[in-house]
Amino acid sequence: MSTIQEISRRRTFAIISHPDAGKTTLTEKLLLFGGAIQTAGAVKSNKIKKTATSDFMEIEKQRGISVATSVMTFEYRNMKINILDTPGHKDFAEDTYRTLTAVDSVILVIDCVKGVEEQTERLMEVCRMRDTPVIIFINKMDREGQAPFDLLDELEAKLNIRVRPLTWPVNMGSDFKGVYSLYDKTMNFFRINKTKVEDDVVEIDINTPVLDEKVGERDAAQLREDVELIEGVYDSFDRQPYLDGKVAPVFFGSAVNNFGVKELLDTFCDISPEPIARATDKRVVKPEESKFSGFVFKIHANLDPRHRDRIAFLRICSGTFERGKFYHHTRLDKDIRFASPFSFMADSKSLVEEGFPGDVVGLYDTGTFKIGDTLTEGEDLQYTGIPSFSPEIFKELVNLDPMKAKQLDKGIQQLTDEGVAQLFTLPIGNRKIVGTVGELQFEVIQYRLEGEYGAKCRWTPMPISKACWLTSDDKRKLDEFVRLKGMQIAYDKDQNPVFLAESDWILRMNIQNNPDIKFHTTSEFKTAVEA
Ligand code: G4P
Repeated sequence: MSTIQEISRRRTFAIISHPDAGKTTLTEKLLLFGGAIQTAGAVKSNKIKKTATSDFMEIEKQRGISVATSVMTFEYRNMKINILDTPGHKDFAEDTYRTLTAVDSVILVIDCVKGVEEQTERLMEVCRMRDTPVIIFINKMDREGQAPFDLLDELEAKLNIRVRPLTWPVNMGSDFKGVYSLYDKTMNFFRINKTKVEDDVVEIDINTPVLDEKVGERDAAQLREDVELIEGVYDSFDRQPYLDGKVAPVFFGSAVNNFGVKELLDTFCDISPEPIARATDKRVVKPEESKFSGFVFKIHANLDPRHRDRIAFLRICSGTFERGKFYHHTRLDKDIRFASPFSFMADSKSLVEEGFPGDVVGLYDTGTFKIGDTLTEGEDLQYTGIPSFSPEIFKELVNLDPMKAKQLDKGIQQLTDEGVAQLFTLPIGNRKIVGTVGELQFEVIQYRLEGEYGAKCRWTPMPISKACWLTSDDKRKLDEFVRLKGMQIAYDKDQNPVFLAESDWILRMNIQNNPDIKFHTTSEFKTAVEA
C-alpha cells in the first residue's frame, strides 16, 4: 500500500464526555465492531472512582490501566482507526486537553438525562479553539431523558456550535422504540440486547401505514411531525461545515445496549477527516510530505520503583516513522534513535517497525522529552498549539531539606515537563509556584519528589485564582507592566511573563487599566480575556 493510501485510511480521534455519560461503554462497543476485543467488559474503565480520591496510589494503579488503553487501534471497513483515550477524572483535565491536540476529530458523548454538563463545556471550548470536527452521540436513550429538541437547543446554546440531527429517536425510556435515520431513511428498532453487534434495520417510508404498524399510531404521528420540523428548521447535512468545525451531526442511541453505535461508526467512517495538515512555528506541514515529523503530546511516568521508565506518546504528522532510524529532537538540537518504539492495542503493546501520519507510537524515554517536543528528519521546526491552560489551584513549593535543593529543582522541572502540573517562578527569591487543576496533583508531586528524587517538600497555598500569559504589541509597555507588578509576575518554563491574579476582580481591573497589555488564559495566545 502506498503512503498516500496509508494516510487516507487513517482516522485518529478521541471520545470525550463528562464522567459517567458512557465514554468507556461506547469505546468498548466500537472496539467490538472492529474485532479488536471479543467480549464486552474487556476495556477497563480508566475513570477514577470517587471513593479513591484520597488514595492516589490507587489512582496511579488506575492510571497504569489507562496506559494500556491510551491508544486503541482497530481496523474497520479497511480503515485504521486510532481512538485516543482521555482521562475521566477532572483533576487530569490538562491531560485531556493535550490529547485533543493530537486528534483530527472527536466524538462527544452526552447523557440524555443530564444534558450538557460542566466538563463537556470545557472540553468543547478546547475543540472550538482549533475548530476540531465534532460528532455528538446522545446516549442512554433507554432512560427517561430530556426532550430531544430541548437537548439540541441546549447543545447549541452551551457548546457554541450548530447541530444537525442525522438520526431521530422514537420515544425514549421504557417506551424507546428505536431511531430513524434521516440520512438513509431507515428505521432501527430497539431491543434490549447487550451483546448483539448487528442492528435490526429496515428501510421505511415514514409516510406509509407500515410505520404505524411498527411503532403504533401515536409514535408514528410524532415521528412524522418531528421529521417535518427538522427538515424545516435545520439545513440539510453537508460535510464541509462539519469538517470546518461549524456544524456537529447528532446521533441518538444507547451504548450499553450497543444500539445506534453501528450507524455512528459507519457515518464516522464516511465523513470524518483523515490526518490533517498541522501548524509549526515555521510553516504548515502536510501529512503526505515525504519527510517524517511528529510531536509528543503526552508523557506517562511509571511509578513502580522497579520500572522507572517513562513513555512519551508521539503523534506522527508527516512522512513515515521507522524503527531504529535517527531523528532530530529540535528543542535539544540532537539526533536520537528509538530501538523499540511500540504501538498500542486494546490490551497489549507491540513493537512497531513503521508508522504513518495519524498513528501514535510509544517511545521509551529517560527524561529527554517534554510535552510539545518535535521530532523531524533534520528540519528545524516545532509543532505549535500544545496549550497550557490557567491552572486553578496554586501552591508554593517549599523545600524541607536544604541539602537536597538540587534534587528538588531537578525533580520539579522533570515532573512539570511531563505535564503533571505547571511551574511558575517568581524572580525574587527564585520562589517556585506550582499550579494544577486538581488537589490530587500536589499529593502526586510530593510523593514522587520524595520517592524518585529524594527531596522532601511541603506546600503553602497561594491566594491566586488565575494565571494569565501576557503579550503586547508594544514591548516597552509590557516591560514596564512587568516591572510595576513585581510580585504578581512570574515566569513560565519558557520564560514567558505570567500575571498571577488574586481574584477575578483584580484581573478585570488590570485588564481595564492596561489597554495595551493582552491577558491570555492559555499559553496559546489566540484569544485575550476581555474585562
Ligand atoms: P464514562 O466512561 O463516560 O465515565 O461512563 P461509562 O461508560 O463508565 O458509563 C457510566 C455508566 O453508565 C455505567 O454504569 C454504564 O453501564 C452506564 N451506561 C452506559 N451507556 C448506557 C446506556 O445506553 N443506557 C444506560 N441505561 N446506561 C448506560 P455503572 O452502573 O456506573 O457501571 P456498570 O456497573 O454498569 O459498568
